[in-house]
Parts: sequence; C-alpha cells; structure tokens
Amino acid sequence: MVKNIKPKKKNRRLITSALPYINNVPHLGHIVGSHLPGDIFARYSRARGYETLYIGGTDENGSTSEIAAFKLNVPIEKFADKLYKEHKKIYDWFEISYDSFSRTSKKIHHETVKEFFETINKKGFIEKNKMKVFYSPTENMFLPDRYVVGECPKCGYPDASGDQCEKCTSVLDPSQLKNPKSTISGGKLEIRETEHLFLKLDSLTPKLKKWIQSNKYFREQVRNLAMGWINEGLKPRCITRDLKHGVKVPLKEFKEKVFYVWFDAPIGYVSSTKEITKDWEKFWKDEKSEVYNFLGKDNIPFHTIFWPGMVIANGEFNLPKNVVGLQYLNYEGQKFSKSKGIGVFCERLPELKLEADVWRHYLTQIIPETSDSEFRWKDFQERVNSDLIGNYANYVNRVLNFIYTKLDRKITKPASKELQEIDKNLLKKIEEKRKSIGDLMERAELRKAYAEILELSSEGNKYINDSEPWNVIKENPKRANNIFYISAFLLKNLAILFAPYLPKTSEKVWKQLNLKGSPSCSGAWEEAEKDFGKEHEINKPELIFKKIEDKEIEEYRKITSQGIDLTELFK
Ligand code: MF3
Ligand code: ZN
Repeated sequence: MVKNIKPKKKNRRLITSALPYINNVPHLGHIVGSHLPGDIFARYSRARGYETLYIGGTDENGSTSEIAAFKLNVPIEKFADKLYKEHKKIYDWFEISYDSFSRTSKKIHHETVKEFFETINKKGFIEKNKMKVFYSPTENMFLPDRYVVGECPKCGYPDASGDQCEKCTSVLDPSQLKNPKSTISGGKLEIRETEHLFLKLDSLTPKLKKWIQSNKYFREQVRNLAMGWINEGLKPRCITRDLKHGVKVPLKEFKEKVFYVWFDAPIGYVSSTKEITKDWEKFWKDEKSEVYNFLGKDNIPFHTIFWPGMVIANGEFNLPKNVVGLQYLNYEGQKFSKSKGIGVFCERLPELKLEADVWRHYLTQIIPETSDSEFRWKDFQERVNSDLIGNYANYVNRVLNFIYTKLDRKITKPASKELQEIDKNLLKKIEEKRKSIGDLMERAELRKAYAEILELSSEGNKYINDSEPWNVIKENPKRANNIFYISAFLLKNLAILFAPYLPKTSEKVWKQLNLKGSPSCSGAWEEAEKDFGKEHEINKPELIFKKIEDKEIEEYRKITSQGIDLTELFK
C-alpha cells in the first residue's frame, strides 16, 4: 500500500546516558535530562534495525559519594550498594531499557581505567605538575572538588564546588573559588601545593577543535559552549586527587592518590559495555559503530572537551557521533530541591498508580532540548487528558471499537481502485510523516518527533470524522470496511512510531490489533510498511488510559514532593 522506505545502512550503535552520582535518589530532572531521552533514542535505534546497546551505570567514586556516606555515618560500600539499588529500581520503573547498568566501584571498571590511563601515559599525553589545593588543618586532609564550596569567579553563584559551577557550567580549579568553605566543617582553609598528574589538553586542542567543528549533529548550544572553551584556550587538566575513595593511580609515586572522578567515570561507559559483551570492542572501536552520549547541561564540558580529549589521547576508541547535551528542568518556576520539598521525587511515583507511559508521555514533551524547561502539574494534567487520552487513546478506541462491534471484528483489504481521494491522502501523509519523523529521530530531536507523531494521530481522528463511517455503514458496509482497513493501518503505524516513547501502550495496541511479534522488536520500523493482508481479525478492545481529575492532581502533588529521607534507607 505504501511505497518502501529504504532501511538505513545498519551500523552498530552504542548509546550512553551520563552515569548518575549516588549521593541521592534521582528526581524528574535526572530522568528527562538523560535517562529518558537516551532510552527513547535507544529504543528507536533498535526498532530501526541498528545493533544497539544502551549503556549506563552509577558513578560511585570521588568526593560526592564520600561526603554523602560520611554525612550519614555509613560505610561507603554499604551506602553505595543501597543507593545503586534505589537508582536501578527507579530506572526500571520508568522502563528505561538499559542493556547494562553497571557500577564504577566494580573491579572490571578499576582495571579498565588503569589500562586506559596507561595507554594515554605511554603516548605522552600525561604530565606531572604542581597544583594548589585547599587543605583543612581541622580535618587534617586535602579538600578537593565537592569538599569545598565558594563563589563562582565567572557568574557569582555562591554554591559552586571546587571543580565546577553547576549554574553556569564553568569548569574550575579549586583555587579560583572566592570565599571558599569546607562543606564538612565550614572551617578555615589553607592553600598547599602538591604534585599531581595532568592531561595535556593544550596539545590535544587542534584535534578537538577539528572534531567539534566538523560535527554535523551537535546542537547549536552544545557546539557553541564547546567552541567557547576552545577559544578561551585549553590548559592541562588535573586528573588526580588526594582522596581515599576512588580508582588508585597505578604509579608508585602517586599510590596514595586516586583519579579525579571525571577521569574515571566516562571510562565507565567502556567498562559497563565490557561487562555484558565479549564483543565490546566492536561497539567502541569499529568504524561502523556510532557512539551517542546523552547528558545534562553541567556535563557538557566533560563530554565535549575532557572525555573526547581522553579518547583522542588514547587513540583506540571512537569519538561520539553526537553529544546530546540537554538543559535543566525546573519545577513550577523553581529549582528542584529535596530539602525544601520542591519537585517530583521519583521514589514516590509508584504510589500514584499511574502507568510509566503516562509520565513518559508528559516528560517527553518537556525534555529540555533547546532551553531549560518547566514541569507544571496543570500542564501535566492537560497534556495527558488532551493529547494522550483525547487524541491518541481516543483514536485507538474509535478504530478498534468500530471494527469489533460494527464489522464483526474483521477488516478486508480494499482493491486499489476502490480507494478514494481522502484515503490516498491519508496514506500519503503516513508515508511522509514516517520519513520526517525518522529524520528527526536520527538527529535526536525527540520532542519534535513526538509532536509529529501526535499530529499524525490527529490526522487519523480527522479522517474518521470526515468520512463519517457511522452513516456510511448503513448504506455501504463495504466502504465502512475500507475506511477502517486504512484507519487500522494508521494505528499499526502509530503503535510502531510511539513504541520508543510509550513502550507498554504500544504493546497493548499491538495485541489488540492481533499482530504477531512486537512493535519494539529489532527492525519493527520496516513492519510499518506492511498492511494486514487480505483479511484480518482483531482482538477485543480494552480501554488504555483514564482521565486525570483535578483532585487527583492535588493528591499527586502532595505525595511526590516529599522524597524519602536518606536516613530512612539505613534504619
Ligand atoms: N556523575 C556525573 C553527574 O551526575 C555524570 C558522570 S557522566 C560520565 O553529573 F561520563 F562521567 F560517566
Ligand atoms: Zn558560575
């Protein structure tokens, strides 16, 4: 019925989502900021027939977790085991389809980091140098990274940490902070000079610049940020720290130090891949494999400069084809804050008894793709009730109910000469949309692609309204059949197009349509071109969603604004 769309060349795809720190349980900002967009893209890639791995894990080393465990007075291993489980539970609940969700505390990771470092070192991209670091006489220790907070020298944000200001994303040296304070004791700090290892980013600049400038896929703001740092001039970046908790540096004179967490964590993408497949090198080193990174705003410098610099220095791994750097999500005009009870805290979501797809539907529409975005409960309710239920679920019901009750659950393929103008137009639209949605997905423009899918669903509703099958059937049952053969064909297409976003819903629609296999299986996109054959019978339709009432919204808001207190986890 529809002309073939040539499948793309089948490269492999390795898709990563930034490895979350485990100092706390994730909130919605973390979900829309990387796990969900990465998941949608991974599901799409599988359906498109790419051999795909979606890679994630927890980032457990360095000061962030050390401080969190210390504050609770819990041994770090125990703390990390618990928080890993809490994270995993939440991503599973959201149906995030990680092929591997590993941990940077694992032996395989420590070994991988050591090898990665040794290669870079052999190639001459590491140098020894002195660095000024804060030292706390009260605690008798060095205070790197998150052990210090102070005012950002670039934007004035008062809570910048020693290595980065999360507000303006500037990467910092601790000595640049104004009015520095210890996060542990708040006590006085001294500056001391110690010897550290540095990655020679300065000498990697020409290659980095060439990679950034020649990349066709970066979003404007990602490229601009990256070029901004290049133009400012890259300096060697310190990759070691005076900490206990982390990956030990495999050199005698540095054996008391560990690697900087931003040196070891991105290598976690590699170790997490290694953990699940012997073929990991095919995904990382083969030129026919494409790497995609999904990450939040403050991670952009590390994924456009620091990690690619490490990759270039190492020389054996592929650079990413796209670095999908997302912006921040706010909550009703404010910043998420667990302590102030501002936000939606994911560990509470199962209590609401809403399906994950309802959340995925709304969250997709607020993925901060080009600027910061806003979570609003009113907006949540509206978008669920109007787009998901009023538009899509309504279409599903109309099509399946009519076929089931009025056409004795059967549809028969119309002969081409029976097709009317209105039918041909719809078929053409399906084909065009499939192409434009595919193009958007390839560029990871997931929000726009979703809007187009919803639009296609509206087209379906309009088609039914305009062709008035409830009148037609009285005089001309054959015509009513034709209308619904075409409507069901659109529904099948919608199930496939929606599958990366609403996986469970698409499975249900697929079952009700009585189709074999799954709308999410490898290569499912090619199925979309195929019609139902000469005759087809559907299954009994069932309602897929229920409208959200005002009073329910109030209840949801109350429940989800209280994240669980970490101390409760360790009682
Ligand atoms: N843990 C970091 C954060 O939550 C992200 C690390 S991404 C990786 O901001 F590349 F290092 F893995
Ligand atoms: Zn700043």
